[in-house]
Amino acid sequence: MAEGSSVAELGGVALAADREGAEFDALSSSTARLGRYWPRRVGPAEPLAAALVDHHRTGRPRRVAATRADGVRFEIETEEYFTLDGELAELDALALDQARGRVLDVGAGAGRHALALEARGHEVVAIDVSPLCVALCRARGVRDARVFDVMRLESAEPLGTFDTLFFGMQTIGVAGGVAPLGTLLERLRGCLAPGGRLIVDSSDLFDAWEGDEADRSATRGEIVLSTRYRGWRGAPFPWVYLAEGELSRIAREAGYAVEPLGRVERGEYLLALHAGGDC
Ligand SMILES: C[S@@+](CC[C@H](N)C(=O)[O-])C[C@H]1O[C@@H](n2cnc3c(N)ncnc32)[C@H](O)[C@@H]1O
Repeated sequence: MAEGSSVAELGGVALAADREGAEFDALSSSTARLGRYWPRRVGPAEPLAAALVDHHRTGRPRRVAATRADGVRFEIETEEYFTLDGELAELDALALDQARGRVLDVGAGAGRHALALEARGHEVVAIDVSPLCVALCRARGVRDARVFDVMRLESAEPLGTFDTLFFGMQTIGVAGGVAPLGTLLERLRGCLAPGGRLIVDSSDLFDAWEGDEADRSATRGEIVLSTRYRGWRGAPFPWVYLAEGELSRIAREAGYAVEPLGRVERGEYLLALHAGGDC
């Protein structure tokens, strides 16, 4: 999509609007109404994005049904996407404190980190693969939000260099697997300014694959997930959860120095990955 374009695409349906406000209105005025036009099969990120838009529009939290390829089912609540006082408040606060200079908020969702970082005076570029999320970020006041797939970020050319690449709420999992994560981390070094860092959080996979409880290999956290919301079924997508030791090892192999920043009792941890070696 061309930069500055106000065309949002969802599953092949294009909605155009002249102004950002109109763009968001067009996207969100009624996701139920739009549901008549949107194909029931949508992109991987769109069921959650639509739920976030509904939450923002009505003020009421929504639930997205998620199914892992191994049959494990759970629900994603939208509340956490609008607050920094949620279950991982401690790690969110630490992560925001560790951001430096120009920040890329990767997978910005509803924009909670981007807004907090802007309020602290950072120049922030918020990217999300979902046009709905980007429209929502803009509607909530994020100054620079763009539709962009981080897996396509290979150099500093499209977005410039950053002092901090910020992956909130386990968004480093978009790499989808151990091998692609190594490749992604290597490529992201090209987007960092001298002394730059990644801020990442993750956790071990909480529910092991059925029959695989004893598996302690790095790849045990590779899952395939699909989500549903209001009859929209998102295409399946790969995601990866990693124990702290494994993520640290992969980052070191990709040329980063690893600085543990914090860990909560439930198992989520936060790391700073410093390009160029020094912490
Ligand atoms: C777990 S949510 C985190 C949202 C936000 N960072 C937060 O903490 O509230 C992951 C986000 O990443 C986005 N996403 C998924 N794959 C992506 C990709 N390849 N490039 C950019 N964003 C992506 C999703 O649309 C979603 O908004």
